[in-house]
Amino acid sequence: MDSTLRNIVQKMPKAELHIHIEGSLEPELIFALAERNLVALNYASVDELRRAYAFTDLQSFLDIYYAGASVLLTEQDFFDMTWAYLQRAKADHVLHTEIFFDPQTHTTRGVAFSTVIDGIHRALREARARWGMSGALIMCFLRHLSEEDAFATLEQALPYRDKFIGVGLDSSERGNPPEKFARVFARCKELGLHLVAHAGEEGPPAYIETALDVLQVERIDHGVRCLEDAALTRRLARDKIPLTVCPLSNLKLRVIDKLSDHNLLQLLDAGLVATINSDDPAYFGGYMNDNFVQTFEALPLQRKHAQQLARNSFFASFLDASTKQKYLDEVDTFFQD
Ligand code: HPA
Ligand code: ZN
Repeated sequence: MDSTLRNIVQKMPKAELHIHIEGSLEPELIFALAERNLVALNYASVDELRRAYAFTDLQSFLDIYYAGASVLLTEQDFFDMTWAYLQRAKADHVLHTEIFFDPQTHTTRGVAFSTVIDGIHRALREARARWGMSGALIMCFLRHLSEEDAFATLEQALPYRDKFIGVGLDSSERGNPPEKFARVFARCKELGLHLVAHAGEEGPPAYIETALDVLQVERIDHGVRCLEDAALTRRLARDKIPLTVCPLSNLKLRVIDKLSDHNLLQLLDAGLVATINSDDPAYFGGYMNDNFVQTFEALPLQRKHAQQLARNSFFASFLDASTKQKYLDEVDTFFQD
């Protein structure tokens, strides 16, 4: 990739729509928090922990990701983790971010729901006050746990309804189809929450279909396997259902063998509202601009694709119409000269 295009993808205004905040926990911070909170880790050093990041599939990653999150205990821990992410996002010219958090990962360890959401939300408020960065929270249900557990989590979250804008579905996809959470999502829709779900990462295109038909989600997280079904691909394009694609995640979890095999360009060529996101940046080798630069290096993507991806990221966001337009205008102004 020439240096002009590299400069463009790095500096262009962008939104991030698929980031698990627990996946932004860097090994150094894991060790610092373990020490601060007197939590024992199964790894002797930062290097040893980093060496364990040799994933073979989604589950092998999730095992380590949940272990890493075990050092988070206080409101300040959740603030510090989120603040570190927001600083990196700002450096990558992310102007707006919609952040996933996994309350069940923490409440099952005895951490209060309020501790989790208050710490993360305080960091978002600080970023808005200091830099004018906008952000919002999306609460994810862990799909390997039960429907009952998800309902209990929703109940715990309701007193904090003003601090999150939507719900999502993450964790082990295979064997946990979207329809397992049909009633929870129906309730969330009644509550006026935005709805998204991970689907078609490792799971089949049928999971994308049921996420749309049964859960009535507005965006699909990952969704890269949609191209296996031509009718589904046409539907996603026609209905402008955004896909929050995470190239380095797909590479590290072996959804693809090499980045040059990624189908991002085919997704864009099929008219899909595809976006680039980091997923779990501390585990997958990079934040937003690492994902952009490496993907642009691996695929024959051009300046027009950069502009499309930046526009898509704001178009696909849950911002109100006038703020969305303001950001879209900012993208177009950036690409004018
Ligand atoms: N997929 C499913 N669950 C997750 C992921 C992912 O990529 N990251 C964190 N939880
Ligand atoms: Zn994800």
